[in-house]
Amino acid sequence: MIEDHRQPNIAAAAAPADSIVGEELLVDSSTDSDSTFGEAADSTTTSLASSVTNYRYEHGRRYHGIEDGRYSLPNDDAEVERLNLQHKVWEIALNGHLYVAPIEHESLNEVLDVGCGTGAWCIDFADAHPGVQVLGTDLSPIQPHNVPTNCQFIVDDANEVWVYGERFDFIHTRTLLLGVKDWKKVLQQAFGALKPGGWIELHEFHIPIACDDGSAGPESAVMKWGTSMYEGFKKFGVDSMATAKFREYLEEAGFEDIRETHTKFPLGPWPRGDKEKAMGALFQKDIGDNLYGLSVKTLTQGLGWSTEEVDKFIQEAKADMNNPQIHTYFPIDIFWARKPR
Ligand SMILES: C[S@@+](CC[C@H](N)C(=O)[O-])C[C@H]1O[C@@H](n2cnc3c(N)ncnc32)[C@H](O)[C@@H]1O
Repeated sequence: MIEDHRQPNIAAAAAPADSIVGEELLVDSSTDSDSTFGEAADSTTTSLASSVTNYRYEHGRRYHGIEDGRYSLPNDDAEVERLNLQHKVWEIALNGHLYVAPIEHESLNEVLDVGCGTGAWCIDFADAHPGVQVLGTDLSPIQPHNVPTNCQFIVDDANEVWVYGERFDFIHTRTLLLGVKDWKKVLQQAFGALKPGGWIELHEFHIPIACDDGSAGPESAVMKWGTSMYEGFKKFGVDSMATAKFREYLEEAGFEDIRETHTKFPLGPWPRGDKEKAMGALFQKDIGDNLYGLSVKTLTQGLGWSTEEVDKFIQEAKADMNNPQIHTYFPIDIFWARKPR
């Protein structure tokens, strides 16, 4: 049973950026042993309509039906479950808030979540802001049907031309990183889709993953997992370090008031602090338990590994992720910026 960390009405307010998780995670040495802590019909959309449920099946998993190579993670029930867990991790990280940007509620009419996955963020946002229309887009129609009336989902590929017009007051992305080939173009298009004064907010990770205390060296399976995935993503035309250029791209697109904060999502309940432990335990499950499915397409198609090689490697990397003496984390980069009035 996952604890509900939200407080009433908190989702309708911005999270103070300094309240997320500290930039430093301190190791809790007492856990260095086994632990049990446990309206949008438009040209892009229409052109995709016939193929959206033409799913691809590989490695015992189901993938989206849009062009192969667009996005290398599955879209089946196991992935939906993983994304729901990931939503909980973010909920804890943001203390129940859904965003950081100082959006102006009086002028909030339409919100876009690009790469919405299960639609959990959209549904929570729509519930918290009943007067606001929330649109979630994704390559896969994996969102539930029973959603708030002010929440809508469409299949759309963010890499294609955006045809929304200057329409939204707030645009949000969260872990869309692996599905975007050209972030400069996506951020330019987001600028075009925002009304003057509207905000964009990006919550993205980067891979390779990291370890600050040397408990996982570069030759460890878990760290090699990060570097191998980075190389594999490159073969799909995806830069999993793209957040390093976000500020530059936001500036070039014309955004102002650009802010950023950097945090760490621990892989395991190894850091000090109840919040950090709760996040780490869930995130370890989210990534570790799903490591094969998250990696197999990238390592076989991207790097040419056999499934046997992937299987063996993933078992070793997963053992590292579950080892309480190994202190790795995903670096998370959050940016928010405003379109000039
Ligand atoms: C890791 S999931 C995150 C989902 C959701 N944002 C969340 O935080 O729960 C990434 C989602 O982005 C979608 N996606 C990937 N590339 C995309 C693209 N080019 N256009 C639209 N959606 C995309 C995937 O289908 C997947 O559902």
